[in-house]
Amino acid sequence: MSSNASSDPTSRITSSDDLEVSAYLEISQEKAGHGIPNASNHIPQRESVLVIDFGSQYSRLIARRIRESKVYCEIIPYSATWDSVKDLNPRGVVLSGGPASVYDSNPPLAPSWVYECGLPILGICYGMQVMVHQLGGKVAPATKREYGHAVLHQNSTDEPLLHGLPSSIPVWMSHADQITELPPGFHAKAYTDNAPVAVTANDQGMLGIQFHPEVAHTPHGVDIINNFLYKICGMGELWTSGNFVSESVDRIKAQVGDGKVICALSGGVDSAVAATLVHKAVGDQLTCIFVNNGLMRKEEPDRVKTTFEKYLNVNLIFSESTERFLSSLKGIVDPEQKRKIIGSEFINVFDEEAARLGQVDFLTQGTLYPDVIESASPENSVSATIKTHHNVGGLPEHMKLELVEPLRYLFKDEVREVGLELGLPEEMVYRQPFPGPGLAIRIMGEVTHDKLEILRAADWIVMDEIKANNLYRELWQTFAVLTGSRSVGVTGDFRTYGHVIAIRAVKSDDAMTADWARLPYDVLASISSRIANEVPDVNRVVFDITSKPPGTIEWE
Ligand code: XMP
Repeated sequence: MSSNASSDPTSRITSSDDLEVSAYLEISQEKAGHGIPNASNHIPQRESVLVIDFGSQYSRLIARRIRESKVYCEIIPYSATWDSVKDLNPRGVVLSGGPASVYDSNPPLAPSWVYECGLPILGICYGMQVMVHQLGGKVAPATKREYGHAVLHQNSTDEPLLHGLPSSIPVWMSHADQITELPPGFHAKAYTDNAPVAVTANDQGMLGIQFHPEVAHTPHGVDIINNFLYKICGMGELWTSGNFVSESVDRIKAQVGDGKVICALSGGVDSAVAATLVHKAVGDQLTCIFVNNGLMRKEEPDRVKTTFEKYLNVNLIFSESTERFLSSLKGIVDPEQKRKIIGSEFINVFDEEAARLGQVDFLTQGTLYPDVIESASPENSVSATIKTHHNVGGLPEHMKLELVEPLRYLFKDEVREVGLELGLPEEMVYRQPFPGPGLAIRIMGEVTHDKLEILRAADWIVMDEIKANNLYRELWQTFAVLTGSRSVGVTGDFRTYGHVIAIRAVKSDDAMTADWARLPYDVLASISSRIANEVPDVNRVVFDITSKPPGTIEWE
């Protein structure tokens, strides 16, 4: 995977934009195996770095940086046993940062195999403190907490971890504890004004750094991570999208044999990439199913059809189900009911279409690594139902097929790279997320053909202007909402009483939180005047300036 995969190095993990499909097809038979490799076949495991998670976002960011350095890594819980990870072929271990303090009553500790396996270790922030603590050194509250910028000074220039760096560099600190006594065999290698030991190492390849190399505020952070990976662990730049594709193809072939596979396409990038990989591996044994629920954007269903059928030559069942969905939605105004109806109708259609294929053995899903980590994380077991897409029931018993999840260990930006490697059009690879219930949750009140047409026309203009002004990729989502209100206007000499369209544009890293985008006024002006002039029955356009929280991204 290329190192420029993520333009914002401080960004958090992005979530799947194929939520719609994975939500509908959520299958309970296989729960995410946090850090446990997929050992369903005998393809040799690539070499890896293990990132031990002490319960924070840091571990994900570290994992992304390592992947961007073209080295494969997996995040594993601090409770993992050696037996559960040894097949990952580890070449090094990173102890990640975390919110705990080693002198809390029950601090999370690294498992003892970490110190016994002989692999190089890099402890970062809490990871450093925990290593020092477990190996016989001392950690105590710092006299002065250190948050933000600091300058790191090297004691000498012989530390391989800092190889090639100036003797003083800016770093980003975030700690309240510090090392007061090193364990036997460890030496202080660098310091800051407030941390006498900001880098430490022993002769056995155990290293600790107090600052965060994974954030953009540590400009040489990538060099430090690269020194650890390439110089200390002796790893190569093997994690590339090309290698991933060929390895995945072998794995899929081994898993599927001559079985039959189905895949639900949503139009989003994850299901598209997953399906394309499976198609590359087993060709016509794969059949994709696309359900046109009539709630998609203008031209979207045709685009999916053209890309998969004509361009990629994939067996595609295009299920034209618009009328079925719209008649189930007749008279429904409650957002939750809309979602439930669309979800269950989708499953019915998918089930019926799949049944026509006779014996099917496998189901391909575009599950991504963040989904795997999320579902293995205990703090996610209790959460309020805001919208049902996170809780849709799943497939009927008889459809619980063995899963093929080729993207299970990829981050979103890696999926995009693989998509490009596989020759998918950029338009599909960089598509903004679109919800499974589609335009139905952007029409307040009852969903009708007429309202869908109005919204599609407005949405098209929004997209057109956003793309023309080169804003598409920097925005998480941009769309129009049919607000359900009407207002009085004037056209020529006549009074109008038309629909009010709202424009929504948000920036986000993972859809968990979002900020409304400060679109340039002239872009807003052209969107507004085009919608009011070109879309019949619309006489007013407003701009939604609500962030999430307290709003959500979609209006329903
Ligand atoms: P909200 O509106 O909850 O949306 O802030 C967060 C993200 O999820 C998308 N979304 C959905 N995706 N099925 C999906 O696959 C759904 O039912 C659904 N509802 C919302 C939304 O577009 C945003 O990206």
